[in-house]
Amino acid sequence: MSHPTRRILVTSALPYANGPIHIGHLVEYIQTDIWVRFQKLRGHECHYVCADDAHGTPIMLRAEQDGVTPEQLIERVWREHRADFAEFLIEFDNYYSTHSPENRHYAELIYRRLDKGGYISRRVITQAYDPEKQMFLPDRFIKGECPRCGAPDQYGDSCENCGATYSPTDLKNPRSVVSGATPILKESLHFFFKLQDFEVLLKDWIASGPIQPQMVNKLDEWFTAGLQEWDISRDAPYWGFEIPDAPGKYFYVWLDAPIGYMASFQNYCDRTGLNFDDFWNPESDAEVYHFIGKDIAYFHILFWPAELTGAGFRKPTAVHCHGFLTVDGQKMSKSRGTFIRARTYLNHLRPEYLRYYFASKLSDGIDDLDLNFEDFVQRVNSDLVGKLVNIASRCAGFITRRFNGRLADELAEPALYTEFVAAGASIAEGYEGRQFGRAMREIMALADRANQYIDEKKPWALAKQAGSETEVQAVCSMGLNLFRALMIALKPVLPGMAAQVEQFLQIPPLRWADLDAPLLGHVIAEFKPLMQRVEMAQITAMVEDSKESYPAAEQAAKPAGPLVDDPISPTVTIEEFAKVDLRVARIAKAEAVTGADKLVRLELDLGGETRQVFAGIKSAYKPEDLQGRLTVIVANLAPRKMRFGVSEGMVLAAAGGSGIYLLGPDAGAEPGMRVR
Ligand code: 2FM
Ligand code: ZN
Repeated sequence: MSHPTRRILVTSALPYANGPIHIGHLVEYIQTDIWVRFQKLRGHECHYVCADDAHGTPIMLRAEQDGVTPEQLIERVWREHRADFAEFLIEFDNYYSTHSPENRHYAELIYRRLDKGGYISRRVITQAYDPEKQMFLPDRFIKGECPRCGAPDQYGDSCENCGATYSPTDLKNPRSVVSGATPILKESLHFFFKLQDFEVLLKDWIASGPIQPQMVNKLDEWFTAGLQEWDISRDAPYWGFEIPDAPGKYFYVWLDAPIGYMASFQNYCDRTGLNFDDFWNPESDAEVYHFIGKDIAYFHILFWPAELTGAGFRKPTAVHCHGFLTVDGQKMSKSRGTFIRARTYLNHLRPEYLRYYFASKLSDGIDDLDLNFEDFVQRVNSDLVGKLVNIASRCAGFITRRFNGRLADELAEPALYTEFVAAGASIAEGYEGRQFGRAMREIMALADRANQYIDEKKPWALAKQAGSETEVQAVCSMGLNLFRALMIALKPVLPGMAAQVEQFLQIPPLRWADLDAPLLGHVIAEFKPLMQRVEMAQITAMVEDSKESYPAAEQAAKPAGPLVDDPISPTVTIEEFAKVDLRVARIAKAEAVTGADKLVRLELDLGGETRQVFAGIKSAYKPEDLQGRLTVIVANLAPRKMRFGVSEGMVLAAAGGSGIYLLGPDAGAEPGMRVR
């Protein structure tokens, strides 16, 4: 079958540069990567670019908490993200950062063009301001009591208790999450993008079909509510790009985030000699697709195409939304251990299990996708190990041992092979239309068919009959050709296994078109196991590893009571005690924590590893007196998220009526030593 070569540019949403990739993110990257690999396998020109989303207040504050510059933070996270993606076999052609010269260039260019076109307005607005930290506060950085139900500790935009939405000025007893100070109201000049000027254009564009039908209701809601000007500026201090000719004003992170798609592509063009304009000019016949989660549709379906048009660029061919991931039917949860980081998964399981599982459940819709662990184990073991790999392992040995690895010169059942080739068209349709679940079901139905063929022919029985040599070779060669056809169809999902199979079959990288012709009269290598079964124990271990405890209050800051109120605890066995990993640590740095009068932030050297710990010892020690001291830390305490940052362990102190006394080893002990 022939298909004219298309030129395609594909993106996935840019992950924020202040946190690790987790399995929720991976739904999207795996979905996009499969689609891109499919296009490439079909012989199309397809480029897949992405980047870290590196700007904004949370990243600025996170860097401050960690005691590093934003540049250092985003550099470290960029490396981690890249490593995680690479191991999940997500193959970007370029993985860049929004904090890049190319992105500054395009952000400024687009802004200037929009301004010139009359699409930027300016006016003064009033916002919450932290007088201590001297910064304007995003809604999420203000907490207080819900104006409706009075629940304490609610964010400035909505109440988690009663669901009310409001503006931060409505909160009772508001305080800044950053410093604890009471916010004041302050005026400032802001810049706005006049989205409402693009209503007709957006409606026309949407009518041309770039959006999933399931999103149309959402769109109607948005249009009915009326398109509003969009605030694209933030005041210093802000981590981002300064707006040209507007000192102290910065582009809001969401302005330069999607522009990061262009920036990453420009950077890729500069590396490879591709022409940027071929893909982005308004007359381009290249295709541009954005894969995103449905939560950020507003930015991609309204702001982004409007901005692009206003600035003289093309609009996306389509925006593909997907739903969220649930685990065993519930929202991912840190305490249940179902908020699983990519890295933790990789420590326990093979990435292709998850690629296949997601593929088997993905459709072109926006419904949430559930990772059910029992179903996961069952599906991987039954489909991939029990059906797919089984075909090859049942045939390969005979070819190797009896025919020096040589496949037969002819197909035993050409009609059966033709069935597989014919099914390829429908499977390809499934991939193209992002109905991966359908494609996987069709592939597994073929795998059943192949196993049935082998069951009927029974090469193991034939091998025992005199004079059946040719037939054994024919049957096993047929089986291996069916296996090869399945592997072509699965290559977008299982690229690592496909590479193992190419090695086993001694062939160049498989392409979709290779389906047309079987592999005959060819010498293959010895078969090696292609995939292990998943065991439930591996999942349990991964979930255990993912459990984090997040106490409501800063435990360490509790006032110390006298011994009489604190009786000796029940006995523990030596095995139970041995689970506590106590280590000698040197206090490399100690500082007061703004907004917390009992806490000291410690940076502890464990002999090669540095930990941040918040300790409730400020009443007893001046931070500067602690610097350089040795102490003892519980090194394997689950990290705890506190208001000021993550505490990665606990220092030991005696605490009673007369005060707090930090423990320390005698002179001579070295950081990192185990304490027993
Ligand atoms: O929601 C998010 O995680 C954003 N960082 C996605 C940005 S996508 C694109 F617009 F940059
Ligand atoms: Zn409420």
